[in-house]
Amino acid sequence: MTGPVLIFDSGVGGLSVAAALRRHYPEAALCYACDNAWLPYGLRPDAALVRRIVAVCTAAVEACRPAVLVVACNTASTLALEPLRRALAIPVVGTVPAIKPAAALSRTRHLGLLATSATVRRPYTQRLIERFAADCRVTCLAADALVGEAETWLGGGELDAARLDAALAPLWQAARAGAAPLDTVVLGCTHFPLLTPTLSALAPTPLAWIDSGDAIARRVGQLAAPLAAAGGERSRGLATAPNAVLARALAAYGFQPPAPLALADAGAVAH
Ligand code: DGL
Repeated sequence: MTGPVLIFDSGVGGLSVAAALRRHYPEAALCYACDNAWLPYGLRPDAALVRRIVAVCTAAVEACRPAVLVVACNTASTLALEPLRRALAIPVVGTVPAIKPAAALSRTRHLGLLATSATVRRPYTQRLIERFAADCRVTCLAADALVGEAETWLGGGELDAARLDAALAPLWQAARAGAAPLDTVVLGCTHFPLLTPTLSALAPTPLAWIDSGDAIARRVGQLAAPLAAAGGERSRGLATAPNAVLARALAAYGFQPPAPLALADAGAVAH
């Protein structure tokens, strides 16, 4: 197919999905677009967020003419996949919490779901749990602080150990629970796989960390193969608030410094 794979997230989280796409399709042309002016999505009201996501993705599709859009954001996907599919003429691949593979893996039948506040409370997420993990206990933890930590980390800053401890304490408590301790954690926010080495090091017991990256890469291959080749060029970056810290994070994943992404829909621009 002609056109790159367009990867969209609120911030740098989608780079975890870009990494999975590069593992599966090293030659593929990618374009990365993020709405960092509105970060974090997980604390925004739903109605405004839907309008914003459709406006940003529409502008990004205009700018890079992709073969397929990957919404590399659980918070956006559990809310806005249908409006996006109505608005866009290309295939749209969403990212939703990997409850099904986690339930297949857990021996103790006790899962953790680590996600943004919005993703944890969404009916879409609750339906995934009812459908695929009905026989499991699921400890859901809204960990919005980890979004900021991942942004800082990828931008070259230091992690805040106290903030991480406070955000993760309920998960560690569930991992130490007596008869059926939590053994498998769903990383239901694309920012979180960027912190997996730190999460593993902090966990009080060995845990399996499950994200959606490989499943998304496989789905992209089904929908858009053969993928257009990058031809050795660094992939394009787009952002609603380009800056040097973001440029550093994108560069680490093979993307050019972000160009400004202008929105046509003025109603979606206001904060
Ligand atoms: N990376 C996004 C996700 O997968 C959310 C981060 C945010 O709150 O903006 O949910």
